[in-house]
Amino acid sequence: MKYRGVIFDLDGVICSTDEYHYLAWKALADRLNIPFDRERNNLLRGVSRAASLNIILEKSDQTYTDEEKAALAEEKNTLYRELLGNMSTTDLSDDVKITLEALRKTDLKLAIGSSSKNTPFILERIGLGNFFDAIADGNCITHSKPSPEVFLKAAEMISFPPQNCLVVEDAHAGVEAAIAGGFDCAAIGDARDDEQARWHLSRFSDILKCLE
Ligand code: BG6
Ligand code: MG
Repeated sequence: MKYRGVIFDLDGVICSTDEYHYLAWKALADRLNIPFDRERNNLLRGVSRAASLNIILEKSDQTYTDEEKAALAEEKNTLYRELLGNMSTTDLSDDVKITLEALRKTDLKLAIGSSSKNTPFILERIGLGNFFDAIADGNCITHSKPSPEVFLKAAEMISFPPQNCLVVEDAHAGVEAAIAGGFDCAAIGDARDDEQARWHLSRFSDILKCLE
C-alpha cells in the first residue's frame, strides 16, 4: 500500500465543530453589524483565528487597531469555547467512530493536522485525547493553511514523507495546503468537489476505499 499514514483535519472532518465556529463568528459579526453568512463562513475553513477575523472585518466600514482585533478574536474564542463545553463523546458520529476503529487495527499511523489552538481540548471532549499517534495543531505552527506547515509537521511526527501520507480535508485552503506539501488529499464536505484533491469522499468511511 502506498499510504503509511493518514493525517486528518479536525474541524469539519473528525467532528462538526465547524458549525460552532460559524455560530460564534456569526454572534460577533451581528454584534458589530457586519454582514456574515454561511457562504462567507466557508472562506474561514482551515484558516487561523486571526486571519478569519480579518476576512470578517473586510466587510466592515470601520477600521480596528491590533489591540481591538486581539480583543475581538478573544471574544469569539470565549463564545466558541462555551459551545465546545457542551461537547461529549456523543458528538463523534458512528461513521467516524467505526472508521477510526477500523483504521486503528491496521499498521497505518494516524495523525491530526489542524489549524486550531483548541485541538487538545476538543479531542479530550470527544474521547479521542489519547487516540492519535501525533497531533500537529495551531499551537505548533507559524503559518496556517493554505501553508503546508501543519501537515509537514504531522508527517515528520509520524516519520513518513508526504508521498506516503494521505491528508483528509473539508476546506479548500486545506486541500491547497496538502497539495503544496506534496501530499495526496481526500476531500470531504465543503471541499468535496475540489479538483486538486485525488479522492472525493461522500462520507468519512469512504477513506477505507482510498486505502485498499
Ligand atoms: C480550523 C478551522 O480548524 O481552525 C477554522 O477550520 C478556525 O475555522 C481555525 O479558524 C482556528 O481555530 P481556533 O480554535 O484556534 O480558533
Ligand atoms: Mg476543517
